[in-house]
Amino acid sequence: MTARPDPGAVTGPALRSVLRRWATGVALVTATAQGRPTGCTASSFTSISLSPPLVLVSLDRGSRTLAAITGAGAFGINLLGRHHRDLAERFATAPADRRFDGVGHRLVREVPVVDGAMAALVCRLERTVAAADHLLVLGQPVWCDQRGTADPLVHFGSHYQCLAVGTPSG
Ligand SMILES: Cc1cc2nc3c(=O)[nH]c(=O)nc-3n(C[C@H](O)[C@H](O)[C@H](O)COP(=O)(O)O)c2cc1C
Repeated sequence: MTARPDPGAVTGPALRSVLRRWATGVALVTATAQGRPTGCTASSFTSISLSPPLVLVSLDRGSRTLAAITGAGAFGINLLGRHHRDLAERFATAPADRRFDGVGHRLVREVPVVDGAMAALVCRLERTVAAADHLLVLGQPVWCDQRGTADPLVHFGSHYQCLAVGTPSG
């Protein structure tokens, strides 16, 4: 008798399908490398603790942004608004040394902060924790800007989406 496939088996496709159903915001993680701004798109940003302040982003071990962060000891988290889809695509796919071309930004404590971000944090690198093929990057926020008013850019179902802010659930 052949065993029936287990519908709850955690296969690669099944896991991907579950994770696609998790809606996230979209951020640009930024740092300075050799005096130049660099960064990548990330949806793994999350808060760990308010007191003491601690945030996390999970980056692939091969990420050039990760190398810049560990080299500089600091990084930025730029939360994107719905009008920043082009930036999200560019910072995920364009050559790393061209991503900031024409992108307005300023340096806060040597960390690039993108103009018009919905909100931003500058973090001191607290430490990294190895996790499979990623490193968990833990940062202590040392500066923030929360004056943006845009609706957030959302990543859900492998697509960029807009959140209908102000629409109650239920
Ligand atoms: C919506 C979205 C979310 C992403 N989130 C992450 C993430 O959390 N961690 C990560 O390592 N890569 C993430 N990526 C992929 C990186 O942005 C991409 O691999 C980038 O080219 C890495 O650049 P770097 O090597 O210069 O750091 C994401 C891509 C997209 C489109």
